[in-house]
Amino acid sequence: MNLSIDQAKSLLDELLAQPRNINENQWVVFGVPFPYLTMALDKIKGRKNFAIAAQNCYSKKSGAYTGEVSAEMLKSIGVTQVILGHSERREYFSETNAMLADKLNLALEYELTPIFCCGEPLSIREAETQNGYVEQQLRESLFHLSPEQLLKIVIAYEPIWAIGTGRTASSAQAQEMHAHLRSVLAGQYGQALADQISILYGGSVKAGNAVELFGCPDVDGGLVGGASLQAAEFSAIIGGLK
Ligand code: PGA
Repeated sequence: MNLSIDQAKSLLDELLAQPRNINENQWVVFGVPFPYLTMALDKIKGRKNFAIAAQNCYSKKSGAYTGEVSAEMLKSIGVTQVILGHSERREYFSETNAMLADKLNLALEYELTPIFCCGEPLSIREAETQNGYVEQQLRESLFHLSPEQLLKIVIAYEPIWAIGTGRTASSAQAQEMHAHLRSVLAGQYGQALADQISILYGGSVKAGNAVELFGCPDVDGGLVGGASLQAAEFSAIIGGLK
């Protein structure tokens, strides 16, 4: 919940003006607030490997849910991706693993790529029970999906203690959790499928740590919050993609 529309337009213009090499398998996705989606879609029109994500959608298909936005609505304006289960949605809006399973189903029904967020709070990390905690988030929200459906999902691991705090997980901590998540997926869906899922890291990603984080074998990219509000910083992070 940052920036007025004029500020958001300037930021996108600045970002899109930076020269960069993005290879075929890399995507730059701007996750923007609902009122700015059409503006942002317009700005990236015709640009290869750029996409726009909504930051949420509702867990019901349609109907009298005043103030909510459905997957179908997003699809109908040309949005292709949607962030689901961000820790702030879970914490401030009581989103549960079961509700997120419904949101995932709807996103997939309307051919949106869900960027599914998971991650543990500080108390769980301090008790060293993070592996089981995050595994349960996956089991309860994803494991009803068919292999074909799972292949359409992007996962973002975001330790809550690292979001907006300036405290980044070390690359070793990120790699350890990403490898764990991939092994959990492999246990359910097989290694070949697990190897194809993009697992992003989020939590205080900056230009100064992106190269090291993205260099980890199981870290396939980043979900960037605060640093994406500064064009130069965000561009440098994109430049760090492997
Ligand atoms: P941050 O946010 O990069 O500011 O820590 C990440 C997020 O909100 O997902």
